[in-house]
Amino acid sequence: MSRLVVISNRVQSVDAPSGNQGGLAVALLAALREKGGVWFGWSGEITDTFTGHINFQQGKGVTTATIDLEEQDFDEYYNGYANRTLWPLFHYRIDLTEFERDFSSGYARVNTRFAETVLPLIEPDDLVWVHDYHHVPLGQELRKLGVENKIGFFLHIPWPPMAMLLSLPSHRALVESMFAYDVVGFQTQDWLDSFLHYVTSQLDGVVGEDGWVTVGDRTIKAITTPIGIETADFETSASSDAARMARERMYMSATGRSLIVGVDRLDYSKGLAERFAGYERFLAAHPDRRGLVYMLQIAPPSREKVDTYQEIRANLDSMSGRINGEFSDIDWTPIRYVNQGFPRDVLAGIYRAARIGLVTPLRDGMNLVAKEYVAAQDPEDPGVLILSQFAGAAAQLRDAVLVNPYSPEEMSDAIARALTMPLAERKARWEKLIDNVRREDVMWWCELFITALEAVPENEAA
Ligand code: G6P
Repeated sequence: MSRLVVISNRVQSVDAPSGNQGGLAVALLAALREKGGVWFGWSGEITDTFTGHINFQQGKGVTTATIDLEEQDFDEYYNGYANRTLWPLFHYRIDLTEFERDFSSGYARVNTRFAETVLPLIEPDDLVWVHDYHHVPLGQELRKLGVENKIGFFLHIPWPPMAMLLSLPSHRALVESMFAYDVVGFQTQDWLDSFLHYVTSQLDGVVGEDGWVTVGDRTIKAITTPIGIETADFETSASSDAARMARERMYMSATGRSLIVGVDRLDYSKGLAERFAGYERFLAAHPDRRGLVYMLQIAPPSREKVDTYQEIRANLDSMSGRINGEFSDIDWTPIRYVNQGFPRDVLAGIYRAARIGLVTPLRDGMNLVAKEYVAAQDPEDPGVLILSQFAGAAAQLRDAVLVNPYSPEEMSDAIARALTMPLAERKARWEKLIDNVRREDVMWWCELFITALEAVPENEAA
């Protein structure tokens, strides 16, 4: 059986408490445990000069290998090309996208460094699995160094429409580099279609049967494999002591009031300002409901060195202050806005206490909060998921109340509808949602991708 070499920008520490591991980490750690191998990536640390020194960590049957980046890499690759160029562009925010040559050369440099450093860790039969927009050209860098293994790539974020991608100065080289892989995976059919549209229009690509795509002399397999959560574990978390305590804290602090919850990294793609505006519209349109609901928005800060992230923080501080100033009463505050993260089991308790899960990104590769909210519900009295039609998760979670997050009226109507939704309808919707979240969980996703990579005929690799 082949070992697995996982490469991603962030690496989950093997000794992190299990309550703090995300679903992706849990799935990849489980796959690594089963197959053996190593997880390689950035340590999160910065040094004066790049040394290429690998720090190995072992625990719970898994090995991680991390390297430090130097300051210039951090600025040009992580804060630069990854998070000021690709992230906004791939989330349809051309207005926020910065095009700097220093960023693209920093991105190329770090991907070369990653390839050179991980090379000695790759054994002849290993499957190599590269993750996300930080490392699109990594497969090509590995090929240049003579790696002939099967290499797969999974994009966790959306793939942009062709017309937007054309505004990236090096778009052609970026997409061509993806043909060094054997399998490329996307979260939804929409993103895959946009990729194929670009490839056929710009690279004279030919799309064959079963996801095979050819450009020049390279044929790769392009597939849709939507990521899931660790559902069984999350359902258990929702009845843990920590979850019960969190739930009680919520009830005690707002007896008889319906909780609307949002949990997102503080990121403009999450549509937080639009969400606040939708809730504000709801409060304005339904005076009789004021005092009977409250919103808890949990938004831990993210990528704080990037100005657009600083701006969104300032904007949300002022919006939440303004809405609370306008609508609060002596014993009621409409929005609780919290800039910190919480352990998974505490979140599970908060989700369960919430009558509404409000997940309204303007654009999102998948959105696992939507799935976690579903998994945490009480089957006898489930809450309602209001989900943006622009989240990748909307392709699977068709029984959520789907909204256009750009429309405050739609958001306001959806909140009103969810608050008065009869128990029978809530249950019927939830049963269909949980069925999907259970069936297409994170292990399913992981196996689907690895099976596709294993199935690539030998002569297609390299
Ligand atoms: C998204 C990306 C991940 C990234 C995460 C957190 O989910 O798809 O690759 O790790 O955001 O962002 P950060 O910049 O803190 O790694």
